[in-house]
Formats: sequence, C-alpha cells, structure tokens
Amino acid sequence: MDKLTVSKILCLLFAVEASIIQDNYNRERTALLEEETHKAVGGKQNLNANETIANNILMRWKMKELNTSYNDPQHFNFSKHYFSYKKNIEKSKVYQIIRRMPKGAVLHVHSTLMLHADLLVKLTYEDHLYVCYEDEGILLHFSESTPQKACPTKWALVSDLRNASGDPIAFDSNFKKYFTLYKGDDNEYDFVDVTTIWKRFHIVGRAIGSLTAYRPVREKYCYEVLKQYYRDNIMYIEMRMGLYGLYELDGTRHEKKYLVELHKNITNKFIEDHPDFIGVKLIITHSRSKNIDRARETLNAIRSIKAELPGMIAGLDFVGHEDTGRPLTYFLPMLSEAKDEINFYLHAGETAWLGTSADENLVDAILLGAKRIGHGYALTKHPSLMSAVIKKDIALEVNVISNVVLSLVHDVRNHPLASYIALGLPVVLSSDDPGAWSAEPVSHDFFVAFMGVASKHADLRLLKQLALNSITYSALEDEGKTRLFEVFNKRWDTFVRDVISDESLLDTSVS
Ligand SMILES: *[C@@H]1O[C@H](CO)[C@@H](O)[C@H](O)[C@H]1NC(C)=O
Ligand SMILES: *[C@@H]1O[C@H](CO)[C@@H](O)[C@H](O)[C@H]1NC(C)=O
Ligand SMILES: *[C@@H]1O[C@H](CO)[C@@H](O)[C@H](O)[C@H]1NC(C)=O
Ligand SMILES: *[C@@H]1O[C@H](CO)[C@@H](O)[C@H](O)[C@H]1NC(C)=O
Ligand SMILES: *[C@@H]1O[C@H](CO)[C@@H](O)[C@H](O)[C@H]1NC(C)=O
Ligand SMILES: [Zn+2]
Repeated sequence: MDKLTVSKILCLLFAVEASIIQDNYNRERTALLEEETHKAVGGKQNLNANETIANNILMRWKMKELNTSYNDPQHFNFSKHYFSYKKNIEKSKVYQIIRRMPKGAVLHVHSTLMLHADLLVKLTYEDHLYVCYEDEGILLHFSESTPQKACPTKWALVSDLRNASGDPIAFDSNFKKYFTLYKGDDNEYDFVDVTTIWKRFHIVGRAIGSLTAYRPVREKYCYEVLKQYYRDNIMYIEMRMGLYGLYELDGTRHEKKYLVELHKNITNKFIEDHPDFIGVKLIITHSRSKNIDRARETLNAIRSIKAELPGMIAGLDFVGHEDTGRPLTYFLPMLSEAKDEINFYLHAGETAWLGTSADENLVDAILLGAKRIGHGYALTKHPSLMSAVIKKDIALEVNVISNVVLSLVHDVRNHPLASYIALGLPVVLSSDDPGAWSAEPVSHDFFVAFMGVASKHADLRLLKQLALNSITYSALEDEGKTRLFEVFNKRWDTFVRDVISDESLLDTSVS
C-alpha cells in the first residue's frame, strides 16, 4: 500500500466514524425533544384517526397564522396588549376551531364579572334603574323613588337620561364604557402599573356589582351567563362569589343564603332547558381587605348554607389585589380551624414581585392543602414549592388574558404557563373576569394560550388535555365527573367530525 491509499482509507474511516457520531447525536437530540414532548401537558394523549386529521387541519392554520411572526415579530399580536388585537380574533381560523371545541369546565371566574358589557347594557333597560355619576365611575340602584343612598352628584333615572339624550344608541355605547376596561377603538393599549389598573378594575366592578345586586336583574344575569358559557362549549362552571343580600324594588334585603339559592334555582332552570349542562358550584369568597372577624362570619354563613343547600358550595377563597391585601397568614387561625370541613381554592402568587407576602401566599396555599391555586403566577420562581405542587397534585388555574390586562405580563411568550405546560403540571385554563374586559367566556383565553404561550409544536393534544384537566380537577363528585366526561366525549367526537368536514377549513390558501 502506498501512502496515498493509507490516507484515503484513514479518511474513509474518519468519515464513517463522523457519520456514526452524527447519527448518535441526532438520536440523542430527538430523544431529548421527545422526552420533553411526552412530559408536557397533552404529551400522553393519543389521537385517533379522525383526531389526527382534525389536528392536521388545526396545525396547518396555526402555522399559517403564526408563520410570518417568526421572521417578522412586529406582526406577532400576542406580544402586544390584548385590546390591540381583540377585535381581530374572530377572523382567525384557529380561533374558530377553538370556539367550537368542547372545553369542559371553567373553574376560575368571578360571578359578577362573567358577562360581556353589551349584555349588561341590555339589563339597564329594566324599569326603575337610577344612576349616580361618581368621580370616575357610576353607581346604579333600583328603586321606586329617588334612592336615599349618598351620591356626590345626583341620582337620575337611566330611562330619562337615555330618552333625553335623543340618541339612545350613542347613550348606550357611552354607558357601556362603565362596564368594561375595553374601550374598543378609543382604547389606549399602553400597559399601566398594577395599582392603576386595579383601581380602574374596581370602578368597573363597582358598576357591575351595583347592577347585579337587584334580585330580578340577578336572575336574568345569571341565566344569560349560563347561556353564553354554554354557547362557548362549557358544560360546568365553578364561580367565585361573595356572600351578600340581594334587594327588591321596595328595598327589602334578602339573607345571604338567598343568593346561593337563586343560583341553584336558575341553574336548575337552565338544565331543564339544556339537559347536557352539568351545573354550577360556588366558591365563596371573602375580601382580603376585611378583617378576620368578618371572615369568621363568612365561614359560619358557609357552614349553615352547606347544611341547607348541599352540593352548591365547593369551597372558600380570598379575593382582592394580592399585593396590597392581607396575606393568607393573617387569616391563618381561621383557615387552620376550617381546613378539615371545607375545601380551599386559593388565589396565591398573583404577583410579579418576588419575596413579598403575595408571592409567599403560595407557601400557605400549599400548606393549607388548597385543592387548586388561583393563578400561581409566581410559582416558577420557587422550585421547592413547585415540587410540592406536583407531589400534592394541586391544580393551577391559569388566566393568561387576566394577567395581561391586570399588567403582570406584557408579552405572553414570557408567561409562566409555558413552563407549567412543559413540566406537565396539572394546569386548567380559565378567564377570571372576562366580563370586565369583554372577552368571550373562555375561548379567547384558550386561543391566546395556544397561539401566544404554548410551543409552536403544541397541538390538539394540549387543547384536549386542558379540557380534560378542567373536569378532573373540578370539585364535582364522582358521579358528576363521570357525567361530565360522557358529555365531553360525545361533544368532542362531534367537534372532530365537524372540523374534518368543514369545507371552510380545508384550504389554507383561502382565508
Ligand atoms: C412558513 O414560511 C416559510 C418561509 O418563510 C415557508 O417556506 C413555509 O412554507 C411557510 N409555512 C406555512 C405553513 O405557511
Ligand atoms: C393580528 O393583527 C392583525 C392586524 O392588527 C390582523 O390582521 C390579524 O388577523 C391578527 N392575527 C391574529 C392571529 O389575531
Ligand atoms: C321621551 O322623550 C319625549 C320627548 O323628547 C317624550 O315625549 C316621551 O314621553 C319620553 N319617553 C319616555 C319613556 O320618557
Ligand atoms: C327557589 O325555588 C324554590 C322552589 O321552587 C322556591 O321555593 C324558592 O323560593 C326559590 N328561591 C329563590 C331564591 O329563588
Ligand atoms: C370518523 O369520521 C368519519 C367521517 O366523518 C365518521 O364516519 C366516523 O364515524 C368517524 N370515526 C370515529 C371513530 O369517530
Ligand atoms: Zn381571580
């Protein structure tokens, strides 16, 4: 052999070895990515033949709608304020698919902030409604004659003002602004600080709260909520609700129990009209700003209502801006005492601060045995708490749009949900207060999470798992869960068949 042949052979050997190294590398690379996919939420779902076809349709549209953003991020709507792209959402084919998808249950919504402002305005057509214009918002009250409540301006009948305006449509469109943070085309899309936005949020909450405290309106409101959620393909709801007395036109106040009973009655009526709707449970809330004696009163009220109306109350929670409110440790004596008789579904870690009492509420939510944590936004910063959440199988109720509107996160690609999904945590998606920003019940939240937060590769398996999680981690008894799974599976099969056969979804070149 001459020198040239030897070196040729050596070269060949190196090339073979290099290609083996390359193969091994690729195999390891693929294995690592597959491990991550398998571990993530939805990774263990196996799609059947029809679901696979539907998934291909979904993913073709997802890629088409996101494709330009990867090269040209200025077009990426989801890194902007929700209000800046909200009115375009309906045009998205991915959204249209998600809207039709059965989504199981909604587990984190606040009872008076669930309905779109357009529908609230309709309720202001009820007779005897007075309005008081305050500093920035309004207060509403139903009464046979001018209300005696304090008012910095003066009480006037809404019907008179609407009539006197000469332009009821303009009047309503202006009136609507008091019921939502979303101001349509007049909106400023800037992010403001958390305290400023919470102040505006409270103004909206006060207007809606005063409208819905009147018994006849509350009944209509409640039925309308169920209708809208049902249309959004939600078959069961857990509502967070404070306990207070509704009033009648003559000023009579009902006791707290009445509010729960009203929800029970309206839900039963709705189920009569829509037999595959499973129902409603309430998570009774107490304001963080009220003291522990008041909290004990709430607890006692819960005890007696639970005895009289079994099945309606799922548990207890505390509400209000966590950064500025009392921490869970303040309520600890009462919570420790109650923890064996009532389930906790606690807001915790709904903050961007690290090391503050709001952040550390996560510790208490875990130690107190919360069944689910509301938001848990701060959790990724706490590895030990994250392990505890996994070990105790505590579900996280994630509300992405709420976190954007209330100014915790500006670009949803940085939302911690991405990590929760990757870690396969027990996540449920919800919408918190969709009425306060005129969002659809939960479809907008699914859409933003799917397109803006989740991986480019995340597909129908993620969406299905999120819907299934909402059933698994609900407060329903076994029998209720079984029924909800049945209803879900039936609707899911129909959904898949509809997607496959919908001609408007076939061709991605036409939109
Ligand atoms: C995405 O864009 C790339 C190039 O920018 C193109 O090759 C690809 O076909 C596009 N994919 C889809 C699904 O539109
Ligand atoms: C993004 O916004 C643009 C215009 O603002 C709109 O045309 C487009 O449909 C939006 N895309 C999505 C996915 O919302
Ligand atoms: C509305 O105003 C007109 C006059 O502008 C009046 O004739 C009418 O009675 C008012 N209707 C109501 C319901 O107050
Ligand atoms: C609920 O329905 C029951 C039975 O019809 C009725 O007796 C009760 O007054 C209703 N309560 C409320 C709050 O509507
Ligand atoms: C799959 O879809 C086809 C066509 O829509 C339908 O006939 C069939 O029953 C579906 N199969 C399943 C398992 O749902
Ligand atoms: Zn909440």
